[in-house]
Amino acid sequence: MPEAVASAGANVALVKYWGKRDEGRNLPAVGSISITLADLIARAHVRVDDDSVRFQGRGGPVTGQAGDRMASYLDWLGAQLGLTGPGRLCVTVDASFPVGAGLASSAAIHCAVAAAAAATLDRKIDLLSLSALARVGSGSAARSVYGGWVEWHHGEREDGSDSIATQILPQDEWPMAMVVAIVNEGQKDVPSRDAMRHVAETSPLYPAWVASQPADLGAMRDAIAARDLKAVGTIAEENCLRMHAITFAARPPVVYWSPVTMAAMEAVRGLRRDGVDAYFTIDAGPQVKVLCRPEDIERVANTMSSVPGVVRTLRSLLGPGVEIAEGPVPWR
Ligand code: PMV
Repeated sequence: MPEAVASAGANVALVKYWGKRDEGRNLPAVGSISITLADLIARAHVRVDDDSVRFQGRGGPVTGQAGDRMASYLDWLGAQLGLTGPGRLCVTVDASFPVGAGLASSAAIHCAVAAAAAATLDRKIDLLSLSALARVGSGSAARSVYGGWVEWHHGEREDGSDSIATQILPQDEWPMAMVVAIVNEGQKDVPSRDAMRHVAETSPLYPAWVASQPADLGAMRDAIAARDLKAVGTIAEENCLRMHAITFAARPPVVYWSPVTMAAMEAVRGLRRDGVDAYFTIDAGPQVKVLCRPEDIERVANTMSSVPGVVRTLRSLLGPGVEIAEGPVPWR
């Protein structure tokens, strides 16, 4: 029975992906820039089997919409990678952090699943093709292929072959840290896939978001090239608030924040007033992610832990891209 194991880190966007130009292929309406984290890791064990359980998590079989979506993704991956004959791809996933709570777990999981599937079937593919395969599972998974600082390109082609991620800088060329202030470990209210469609269809601010993204991407590339944390953080906060502003303006509104989210944002501003370079970003959930220098991680984590309502904090440095833990490496 062929099998392989791959691991991938979650990534957090500093210039966000929000909106699709093609829903089936997960082609984005805008480009995005992210960092890949070392300590929020998903591990996927893929095998070819005739098992009726296609998707197992830590707590047993994953059923419902999440189980069905993974089964169709595994069928699609199998077809793309030339799986013929008896057996289907099945996966067991383990993550080192809460799943489905706006912590980019789907990015890490789908990237690890795509890599493990290619290794299981012993296919040779390069990282760019892997990025395109991962993207179909979850858009942001395209970015977890690479470590460090990463850009996912909007692309122009209809088949999506140029909507792939590339690395801007490896993790050791500009070390950075992130503290995640967890406000609620439960499942998020509105999955990003559904919210993106709803916001694009009903928010009058959506066209302005799409039009303003190239300027943020350009400024972020320049700020990273200059190793200018203040500029990176300022652009990241503005871009995050703009993304949430368009969700607030949808009909009915989509609001991912809780009062604790706002208190955590204020704590980050307080850190800056005290001279610590710390900047927030927020995804499709109430958690607040704080970008800071590795030497400030302790101070930032202590401050975020002391915000009333913050359940706990996670800390991470920047990490590598996807790795094969067991099985043949497809991209060598
Ligand atoms: O890849 P998805 O469908 O989980 O969407 C991710 C959306 C955000 O996390 C809010 C933004 C981003 O660029 O990661």
